[in-house]
Amino acid sequence: MVPVARKFPNLARYHGRGSEISSSLRELTTYRTKTQPVYRPQATHLEMGEPDSKTALVSVKSTLPKWPPSAERKEFTTERLILRPFRSEDLEGLHGLRTQIEVMKNTGQGRNDKDLDETRKQLARHLPPNDLISFNCAIVDRASGAIIGSGGCHRVSPVYGWPEIGYMFRVEYWRKGLATEFVRGFLELYAALPRHEVELQVHPATVAGTAADDDGRVDEIMVGLTTHENVVSQKILVGVGFEHFLDFVEPDLRDPEVDVGLSVFRLFPLRTTKVG
Ligand SMILES: CC(C)(COP(=O)(O)OP(=O)(O)OC[C@H]1O[C@@H](n2cnc3c(N)ncnc32)[C@H](O)[C@@H]1OP(=O)(O)O)[C@@H](O)C(=O)NCCC(=O)NCCS
Repeated sequence: MVPVARKFPNLARYHGRGSEISSSLRELTTYRTKTQPVYRPQATHLEMGEPDSKTALVSVKSTLPKWPPSAERKEFTTERLILRPFRSEDLEGLHGLRTQIEVMKNTGQGRNDKDLDETRKQLARHLPPNDLISFNCAIVDRASGAIIGSGGCHRVSPVYGWPEIGYMFRVEYWRKGLATEFVRGFLELYAALPRHEVELQVHPATVAGTAADDDGRVDEIMVGLTTHENVVSQKILVGVGFEHFLDFVEPDLRDPEVDVGLSVFRLFPLRTTKVG
């Protein structure tokens, strides 16, 4: 096994940056005192960096799932939920979800969809031919058959280079353990997908502390991002096995005049098939 930091010299700057990190953490603490209290999961590789979109990526070999076309995807059931591909007739259900401000204020968009047309564009991101570039699910309440959420890997992160998990639920369904149930089910479904070998450009911090095998492959990774304030989402990620490895502050997509603190989490989805 070759330490990745030796194979990829760019990674060196993610190791042993003690004083830099502590001054950055002081900065972060100052920032946080102006915001709500922050849940702090145990981070084994807690780092703090520049706005991450500026970090040079490194090339790694790994595996990724082959996203099956929607038409070939089977429904996946958990105790209370059905996870299935979106269909064009889900427009009203998705619009209902995307017009609840409690849900939307935590997304990059930060506001409700203006009208059905705006939701239609979002829905199109999950329908053919875009079903081949993302792996998102309509989340259906088994009891009523209603769409109560949306979640999955809606994109490959442009900053981190790995598939990124996201989820949102209608507010009437919060605090019942459903998001946690969804993520556990989704990870089981995700781990069971067929794999192919890939060469990717990834953010160096995502592979820091991991080792490549004799063929130079690193274990595949999934990332999740939350704002520092989104304690509930952080609990979900940590609860199913994600590791908090990076914090940073950058202009908020919802209002670029204001900075937002973001936490980044990673999971090795093939290291555990049964999650939790
Ligand atoms: C984040 C979201 C999906 C959570 O859904 P949920 O079904 O309520 O989550 P769960 O019931 O599985 O709860 C997860 C954990 O958070 C805790 N929790 C839930 N709501 C809470 C609250 N308001 N305050 C404190 N803790 C809370 C639960 O007790 C649980 O912790 P535990 O595992 O230690 O028991 C939902 O709030 C949502 O859709 N938010 C808007 C979109 C969003 O923020 N998405 C994530 C973007 S990163």
